[in-house]
Amino acid sequence: MSSRTPVIAGNWKMYKDHLEAIQLVQKLAYHLEAEDYEDQEVVVCPPFVSLRSVQTVIQSDDLPIGLGAQNCHPEDEGAFTGEVSVPMLSRLDVTYVIAGHSERRALFGESDAVVNEKVRAIQHHGLRPILCVGESLEEREAGRAVEVVVQQLRGSLDGIAIDDPEALVVAYEPVWAIGTGRTATPQDAQEMCAAVRAEVASLYDQATADGVRVQYGGSVKPGNVKSLMSQPDIDGALVGGASLSSEDFALIVRHRR
Ligand code: 13P
Repeated sequence: MSSRTPVIAGNWKMYKDHLEAIQLVQKLAYHLEAEDYEDQEVVVCPPFVSLRSVQTVIQSDDLPIGLGAQNCHPEDEGAFTGEVSVPMLSRLDVTYVIAGHSERRALFGESDAVVNEKVRAIQHHGLRPILCVGESLEEREAGRAVEVVVQQLRGSLDGIAIDDPEALVVAYEPVWAIGTGRTATPQDAQEMCAAVRAEVASLYDQATADGVRVQYGGSVKPGNVKSLMSQPDIDGALVGGASLSSEDFALIVRHRR
């Protein structure tokens, strides 16, 4: 057993208005019991416009649920119409920020260099990045999966010091498994999460690699979470579709029962 505390995070993507978001987090809390939060972190990442509402529910009901954001701008402030900065997120008690999700890489042109700036900003303000990496189907079929993921890691972490390994989460999300119902086998997911850890060891050192949490993401459901989470190098899940159902996300969080 590793001493790493798993992180189960729900990425709500562009779903749920703020009223629905309030309901979702309330229902989730209703389904979970104290023991479900023991030795693991439970995090929800609503859209920006719902962060304040969800923060209020978490605070007023004193829920042990962490708050995450799905993106950020690397600058603290400025003339960047439509963007949201890390200090703004920090004021809302956001503790995790997703950086470099494959949808942002593919649809919004985010390069490793941009992701690198975001990771720096997130760290600089004392928040925790959930750094996403993952190969496309084409890359996997060409036998380049590990190479692609290692390259993304190197680019996204280039020149960044890791003082507290617990404060970095890497999410391995193979693009072909996102929203497709097609999950990586626990063996394939384990192999890549181990490769991610090995690369962190080579970029930093073994102690850092041993402390970093590596999540798997891509069609995680109540029915497959147990076999994924039982892998030695998988320290949590980044859940998309199934996190939009309080019942399903609660079942995922409760996978140990
Ligand atoms: P799905 O769980 O819907 O496949 O999404 C995964 C994901 O992209 C989480 O960030």
